[in-house]
Amino acid sequence: MRALTWHGRHDVRVDTVPDPEIVNPHDAILRVTSSAICGSDLHLYDGYIPGMRAGDILGHEFMGEVVEVGPQSTLKKGQRVVVPFPIACGQCFFCHKQQYSCCDNTNPVETSDATEFQYGYPMAGVFGYSHLTGGYAGGQAEYVRVPFSNVGPLVVPDHLEDDKVLFLSDILPTGWMAAENCEIEPGDTVAVWGCGPVGLFAIQSALIMGAHRVIAIDHYPTRLALAKQLGAEILDYREVDVREALAEMTGGIGPDAVIDAVGLEAHGISIDNILDQVKAMGFLVTDRIHAFREAVLSVRKGGRVSVPGVYGGFADKFPVGAFMEKGLTMKTGQTHVHRYLKPLLELIEQGKIDTTFLISHHAPLEQAAEMYKHWHDDQNEFTKIVLKTEAATTKQEPKEQQHELA
Ligand SMILES: NC(=O)c1ccc[n+]([C@@H]2O[C@H](COP(=O)([O-])OP(=O)(O)OC[C@H]3O[C@@H](n4cnc5c(N)ncnc54)[C@H](O)[C@@H]3O)[C@@H](O)[C@H]2O)c1
Ligand SMILES: [Zn+2]
Ligand SMILES: [Zn+2]
Repeated sequence: MRALTWHGRHDVRVDTVPDPEIVNPHDAILRVTSSAICGSDLHLYDGYIPGMRAGDILGHEFMGEVVEVGPQSTLKKGQRVVVPFPIACGQCFFCHKQQYSCCDNTNPVETSDATEFQYGYPMAGVFGYSHLTGGYAGGQAEYVRVPFSNVGPLVVPDHLEDDKVLFLSDILPTGWMAAENCEIEPGDTVAVWGCGPVGLFAIQSALIMGAHRVIAIDHYPTRLALAKQLGAEILDYREVDVREALAEMTGGIGPDAVIDAVGLEAHGISIDNILDQVKAMGFLVTDRIHAFREAVLSVRKGGRVSVPGVYGGFADKFPVGAFMEKGLTMKTGQTHVHRYLKPLLELIEQGKIDTTFLISHHAPLEQAAEMYKHWHDDQNEFTKIVLKTEAATTKQEPKEQQHELA
């Protein structure tokens, strides 16, 4: 089959690789129809996530048709499913608490040791996200093996086309959980750093959850325009001092809750960010936490800090004093996607959530390597890329619905 494979920093290729096979009784094999490139994939592309090996198949946002099932899979051939990016067993202590991205059973010992060493406990398995999270092949491919297919995949109704449900795999639940973690109360103002897909879905979710105002921060005009279209007020961090602007916009108090939807590769030429970049080059820190710092310093006293943005290692100048003295609460984590699939599917079916507004480009899987370069270099224009396999273009969607790159 054809698949997008990782070969090193800024080196991904569409290669011919062996087809996946059923390994365990609860596995299923999908013929992928659509997959998306995520901001998290950029951390792999930029070489920030250890544990990658040449030839690893990327992609953790995908959906497709079930073509093969193991004897203990509850799926049936021919079903159309969307798959959560964290792999969960459904049986362990964490799965019983619906903390699916903390599952204790899906990252084999031989690959989980490194995360246990670094984080104190091992991480769960994740599709297409390095050998630290199990080394599972991802879904930017024609076919993918789905372990624990009796737990994760959601069967989607045929009348909803791929673009409407694909993002249930990650960014929609991630934006939703980011907003939920803000514990929004009536009258609240929520500030969101980063207007990538995660930030945009967090903005939409915060407004649905009753936020009075949402203020969105980024520097790409197209992304800020999408945030505005959703109903957010916008700040371009190149034009204003974000902390001052937020204080001014909230009567000197600060936003009630803040969302860091940027993660470990913050842009910007503030002094702290330049210092982070220099230290990262000397391996003194791994993560550049400028957006996180700014969010913690901007939020009001007693406020809530929600961090969907991915961090992987260690950071400098963590504002622990502000955190404690202001009495802040932080919630974060890889998204417990499984928890949100059904309720969010209902909101999509009722037309209450728009999942397609952020897709700027469709492209065939064969062009995936070029798309990674665009996703990295042209973030203003490329707000979300959906890759289509031949299975999708022949079966799923009429060609005229595809954008210019198909
Ligand atoms: N927690 C989870 O389960 C989960 C799931 C998916 C993605 N993520 C993470 O969420 C983050 C965002 O993902 P995405 O797909 O939206 O990524 P993205 O790269 O498309 O978007 C990030 C945005 O942040 C903006 N940004 C950079 N520096 C900034 C700053 N200093 N101030 C304000 N904005 C700034 C960029 O301009 C960009 O628009 C990434 O770290 C990704 O890894 C986490
Ligand atoms: Zn993702
Ligand atoms: Zn589990």
